[in-house]
Amino acid sequence: MRVERRELLRFLLGSPLLLSSGAASFVQMLLARLAGAEETRELISAADRAIDVFDFEAAARAKLSNPHWTFLSMGVQHEVTLRRNRSAFDEVTLRPRRLVDTRELGTSLELLGQKLPSPILLAPCGSQRAFHPEGERAVARAARRRDCVQILSTGSSTPLGEVVEARGGGVWFQLYTPRLMPFTRLMLKRAEDAGCPVVVLTVDQFGVGQNRDRLRRFRRRENPQCQACHDSLVEDVFFGVTSTLGVDPMEALSDLMTLDWGFVDRIRDATDRKLVVKGILTGEDAALCVEHGADGIVVSNHGGRAEDSGLSSIEALPEVVASVGGRIPILIDSGFRRGTDFFKALALGADAVLVGRPYLWGLASFGQEGVEAVLELLERELREIMVEMGTPSLEAITRDRVRLPADGTA
Ligand code: FNR
Repeated sequence: MRVERRELLRFLLGSPLLLSSGAASFVQMLLARLAGAEETRELISAADRAIDVFDFEAAARAKLSNPHWTFLSMGVQHEVTLRRNRSAFDEVTLRPRRLVDTRELGTSLELLGQKLPSPILLAPCGSQRAFHPEGERAVARAARRRDCVQILSTGSSTPLGEVVEARGGGVWFQLYTPRLMPFTRLMLKRAEDAGCPVVVLTVDQFGVGQNRDRLRRFRRRENPQCQACHDSLVEDVFFGVTSTLGVDPMEALSDLMTLDWGFVDRIRDATDRKLVVKGILTGEDAALCVEHGADGIVVSNHGGRAEDSGLSSIEALPEVVASVGGRIPILIDSGFRRGTDFFKALALGADAVLVGRPYLWGLASFGQEGVEAVLELLERELREIMVEMGTPSLEAITRDRVRLPADGTA
């Protein structure tokens, strides 16, 4: 009965008869109100019911315990950056071109020597078994099905070898390291032995958790023991590596997140893999990345989890693009949720985009199937907007297809 009423309202709203009648606007407004009142987000019971990725967010919220949800969703301090990552997209508008034949539409690209069917990649996110018992393995299987790059975190809750096996190779490795070269070398060797073609060095999050206000407040009220529900492999890795090296773990810990550009040089020299630096937000640092031999950059504020700068990554992108001048590929993440978001970044000069929370929402709600569905949905939305914009390939998504506030209206 409710469904029928909704269908009728939709039909009437779209009816040309109604549009041409005298009382149209009033009746239409009334009907829109009525229809809108019924338009609440349902909790989806299966992955294929999702209309947008936010349906997975609601499903994940319903499935996860409070501690895990808080860890997944939080930003830092006042979460200005977390919100800005979304709201800044509204300030970039699109300039669609009409009557372009897009029947032969493609989203493939070559990135760091790899051919990829889509510019959407899976960002490194630690502790995925906190969201689903299959954790990183389920993500790996989904990535394999969709031929998508999975970047595995140093803080993975599943051993690297198992993830590589489930993905069928080609996993990129994200590196967190203390300023301790033997430690770094051992981590790099593990990645190389597992066949990882790319190492992603994350250089933000120097606060190491002190600024995670929401999580800290939560922990003050409830202090769950993580080990009781999921392994904390990051500790195993850390203590395993320090004991293998005969290094005092406390000393190594005190050196966590104290890297500088000189250390980047040492990492560069220590591996023949492609090196991507993640967490860059300024043109100055982007230029330094090129100078110090990086093969790529991820413009990122860690999904609003680094410092509460209020600087969204989409706002930072133009100055990074200008500074790099096409010398190395630029990837970006933080807040990407819709096809139009990807389109805007690509038009502003990004080569590819990482998503974080959306696939974790998919994982938490429906495991591997959820991750696959999130990727499929995002890729479909990107293709849809490419059709609407008259851009049949990624190369056709050029700077003139977007307008920034700074561009003015001329
Ligand atoms: C992350 N992120 C992250 N980054 C990283 O380099 N190493 C890591 O271990 C983690 N861990 C992590 C856990 C969780 C729960 C989240 C939400 C994020 C950051 C991640 O790679 C990426 O930068 C952001 O998630 C992108 O923003 P969105 O898409 O989540 O808004």
